[in-house]
Amino acid sequence: MQIKTHMGVSIDGLVTSADGLAAWEWDPGYDGKSPPPGYSDFMENVGAVVMGRTTFEQGLPEWKDAWPWGERPIRVLTHRPLPEGAPATVKASLGGPKAVVDELKKTGITNDVQLLGGPKAIQSFIDADLLDRLGIVVLPVLLESGIPLFPVKATAFSREVWDKSSHKPARETVRTMRLESQKQLEGRAVHMVYAFT
Ligand SMILES: NC(=O)c1ccc[n+]([C@@H]2O[C@H](COP(=O)([O-])OP(=O)(O)OC[C@H]3O[C@@H](n4cnc5c(N)ncnc54)[C@H](OP(=O)(O)O)[C@@H]3O)[C@@H](O)[C@H]2O)c1
Repeated sequence: MQIKTHMGVSIDGLVTSADGLAAWEWDPGYDGKSPPPGYSDFMENVGAVVMGRTTFEQGLPEWKDAWPWGERPIRVLTHRPLPEGAPATVKASLGGPKAVVDELKKTGITNDVQLLGGPKAIQSFIDADLLDRLGIVVLPVLLESGIPLFPVKATAFSREVWDKSSHKPARETVRTMRLESQKQLEGRAVHMVYAFT
């Protein structure tokens, strides 16, 4: 069982526009109906889905009428009970990444688990060393403002900082990944899958 993502990301690294609309919807090839590029293939071996509460609450009104995940168990990471109105397959998971993975294993799931997002949920899995594959689909759009996949602290080049730096401590704390696969999708997007080393 692998925990894996399939995140749509703009070229400037954002998963939503400033109003919170997912980057997928800004894909110039998006028709408003079809699954996002690569999603059907990705879901073939997915037996359960985990997401953060913000993503769940944002998506629920739309998903309710045409539930996208069939009978697959859905777990929502949260610190509070869920609002009413979700199918019985949806449960709140109050214990964080390790608790939800342990619980899903106990249900007998052998297939992979999609970590749907958003960035806060993904970061908590990375911090817990529980994300096996970071899959991203880079979409041909610059969103300029919105929610980044990874929060970054932007800096401007400083000669003074450069001259004083040994360039070592930062490298020791940088997380590296191994590129496992890459593929062009639908002639416009690039799917990359990284394993954490
Ligand atoms: N482009 C894409 O592929 C894509 C995919 C998915 C989502 N998105 C976008 O991402 C945005 C939301 O992202 P986000 O990072 O702000 O929120 P998020 O990860 O969806 O949800 C964050 C919330 O989930 C709960 N949570 C997350 N990790 C937790 C943990 N380890 N333990 C317990 N609770 C946890 C907390 O809720 P409480 O403490 O409030 O209970 C937290 O405030 C949405 O706008 C959505 O459209 C984009």
